[in-house]
Amino acid sequence: MSQNASKALWGGRFSESTDAFVQAFTASVSFDQRLAAQDIQGSKAHATMLAAQGVLTTTERDAILNGLDQIAAEIESGALIWSVAREDVHMNIEARLIELIGDTGKKLHTGRSRNDQVATDIRLWLRATIDVIRAELTRLQAGLIDLAEREFDTVMPGFTHLQAAQPISFGHHMLAWNEMLHRDQERLTQCQTRLNECPLGSAALAGTSYPIDRHLSASLLGFRKPTENSLDSVSDRDFAIEFTSVASIAMMHLSRFSEELVNWNSTAWQFVDLPDRFCTGSSIMPQKKNPDVPELVRGKSGRVFGHLISLLTLMKGQPLAYNKDNQEDKEPIFDTAETLFHSLRAFADMVPAITVNRSVLKDAAINGFSTATDLADYLVRKGIAFRDAHEIVGRAVAQGVATQTDLAAMSLTTLQGFSAIIDADVYNVLTVEGSMASRDHYGGTAPNQVKAAILRARARLAAEDIDQ
Ligand code: ARG
Repeated sequence: MSQNASKALWGGRFSESTDAFVQAFTASVSFDQRLAAQDIQGSKAHATMLAAQGVLTTTERDAILNGLDQIAAEIESGALIWSVAREDVHMNIEARLIELIGDTGKKLHTGRSRNDQVATDIRLWLRATIDVIRAELTRLQAGLIDLAEREFDTVMPGFTHLQAAQPISFGHHMLAWNEMLHRDQERLTQCQTRLNECPLGSAALAGTSYPIDRHLSASLLGFRKPTENSLDSVSDRDFAIEFTSVASIAMMHLSRFSEELVNWNSTAWQFVDLPDRFCTGSSIMPQKKNPDVPELVRGKSGRVFGHLISLLTLMKGQPLAYNKDNQEDKEPIFDTAETLFHSLRAFADMVPAITVNRSVLKDAAINGFSTATDLADYLVRKGIAFRDAHEIVGRAVAQGVATQTDLAAMSLTTLQGFSAIIDADVYNVLTVEGSMASRDHYGGTAPNQVKAAILRARARLAAEDIDQ
């Protein structure tokens, strides 16, 4: 470097060097070095475009491309020393390029600003990261659908108000989670499509006077198109807010699911057993097997919701165009992606290994009088008005509770004491299996409907996978 090595790349206008604390306070390299691969990718596209437009010679372009490849290798091997004095990932790489190839390196920043550069880097990073997250989500969905198939006719109590309500298929219950995760998939894809536009060429805020080709830059980087407006491109981070919001919804789903698994795995419920490898013990109580993975996922949802609020707050006070506030976007984005990815990974590994305690589930369905609605519907079919039927069954349940007898275990004479219209055929509807099988329509819990839903869910997941 021909100048004093400690002087910032923007140092020309300054008569004193930056205060040491301010330098450290304003630097972002400790965390934005994560964008290095995308920064190099973007710089290579920019240099290629500049040469295609005659702004750089092909010799200059090749020197820049080779230098950038060398820096990528240095980063890969850990040889590159990141410097706080060089503030951020962009200036660390640019300064290193100038060290490596000399004055030609100084031409890379022609027609560009760190403002369009960083906006491009984050979009590239998020675009790639959403692919990785979606693959993990797909793996979890595939495991859920397999579990649903294994347990398609396993009967369990369905709940409202956490009270046993009506018998349902365990497979049907798993498919409910799969629907939520499917919508998360859709939201991730839509978010990815929307952010897939190239800000390069917006420069600081107003564009540039060089004869650039923004369509070429965009296509070199695989973006759908260049962004429409240079001011908007360098300033708004709504795509990051959208990603964090989509991630928050997905984490909310995982947190609900976690809550169920914690209950189901408890000694009081014993609906399922989580595999030992996803649980930990207690340092004092030898009998304990704690469902740490779902508890932690439930807990981690909070930090992602927090990141969403951080980014909304970060953006809300900013006039156009770029402001340094935006440097604060990165840590919430990175942590959101990491938290969601790790939570999905844990679930994708754990769900296929859940043991379902079928007899406990069935007993819980029976003990909860979950076929009471079926008895009421039976009476209605025999000509009794629903309100009267509700009253009759209510009395039968009250006696069942008092005598600890399930409706299906009551004798015909006992049942006829509540309504003379009851016949021996009542037992067809009083069993939990009969009740479950009678919800026999699209989206219902009858095992043959669950089987059909599994086929549809598999086909849809395969189609989503191809989209990726
Ligand atoms: N490190 C900065 C950021 O993350 C890069 C853009 C800096 N631009 C500027 N005009 N200071 O936002």
